[in-house]
Amino acid sequence: PNPSLLILPGDGIGPEVMTEVRRVVSWFGDKRGLNFDVSEDLVGGAAYDAHGTPLTDATMDKAQAVDAVLLGAVGGTKYDNLDFSVKPERGLLRLRKEMDLFANLRPAQCFDALADFSSLKRDVVAGLDIMIVRELTSGIYFGEPRGIIEEGNERVGINTQRYSESEIERVARSAFELAMKRDKKLCSMEKANVMESGVLWREVVTRVGADYPEVELSHMYADAGAMQLTRWPKQFDVIVTDNLFGDMLSDLAAMLTGSLGMLPSASLGLPMANGRPKALYEPVHGSAPDIAGQGKANPIACILSFAMALRYSFDQGEEAARLERAVEAVLAQGLRTPDLLGEENRAPVTTSEMGDAILAALDAS
Ligand code: NAI
Ligand code: MG
Repeated sequence: PNPSLLILPGDGIGPEVMTEVRRVVSWFGDKRGLNFDVSEDLVGGAAYDAHGTPLTDATMDKAQAVDAVLLGAVGGTKYDNLDFSVKPERGLLRLRKEMDLFANLRPAQCFDALADFSSLKRDVVAGLDIMIVRELTSGIYFGEPRGIIEEGNERVGINTQRYSESEIERVARSAFELAMKRDKKLCSMEKANVMESGVLWREVVTRVGADYPEVELSHMYADAGAMQLTRWPKQFDVIVTDNLFGDMLSDLAAMLTGSLGMLPSASLGLPMANGRPKALYEPVHGSAPDIAGQGKANPIACILSFAMALRYSFDQGEEAARLERAVEAVLAQGLRTPDLLGEENRAPVTTSEMGDAILAALDAS
């Protein structure tokens, strides 16, 4: 049977960028014989409008059953005053939680044509291609005890960094598996110098590393890692780190490469019966209500999210690279959606024109 893909376009620019992704998915079926069983459903505000909930149980069941979920974005001003329990974001949170997506993959990839768009010097970022794996379901954002308590005559805010060996082990394993599909280099970041959770993190990652002798493993304190990421990011291939450090380091790494409209992501869980990990792919950006409905959205972040699905869910690394080269080619031709223009005095292309160009580049590949 064909691998299955559930498309959840969502709200705002989500459906606009997903229209272009659907064309790309079809292209791989028509021209490369890579056919997917594609189904489609509502999430976020769109699901709330139709069903009164941001994610129905039926959609949740579908997401659990497919090989990969591809999501656009959720949210919008229209839903700002909804009760917390039915806010669009809850749909996404439910997917992440019930699929137990503990490994968040955030690549920072710099296309040569956009190297001058980075906040760093061209030679520091040109050709950059690294991946940060952030633990997503544990750590200080979830640890107990937490809260604001009275102590003496003042209040104290408390959060707890907490990692079990099994939580560290499973995210470490995902990172090693990824490293095997990339340059076989993994750097683990924590603060073992001042945090017990960091000591355990380092120990467990090292132990898991014994199963991956081909991967060159190194360790770095997370603060030093932040420095190294801005000084010479090309020294890294895959970085694995906890929820809190990963939140900051992945945002930092994202800005090495420029626009939000370019950034894909993946969230992976445990392997299913067929060996593929539970997986949700989505652009890093949100529903961008300020530009929705105007043909201004950059579809590349969502298209590159599908490239990640090809590589990490469907073992189609060559085809993923083909798609990434097509993106590189249209950027090299000078095509820019408005978010990629900055101060440049050039006519922007629309969302669908960007899609047309990427399909043409695929045809030429
Ligand atoms: P946002 O990412 O939607 O937009 C931030 C800025 O970047 C805006 O100026 C927007 O126009 C621009 N931008 C974002 N994606 C773009 C693209 N593909 N092409 C061109 N420009 C792009 O974040 P914001 O404005 O904070 O949130 C808007 C809504 O999206 C809110 O309801 C928020 O809750 C939701 N959101 C949803 C996320 C998700 O579905 N994963 C993630 C972040 C926010
Ligand atoms: Mg963040």
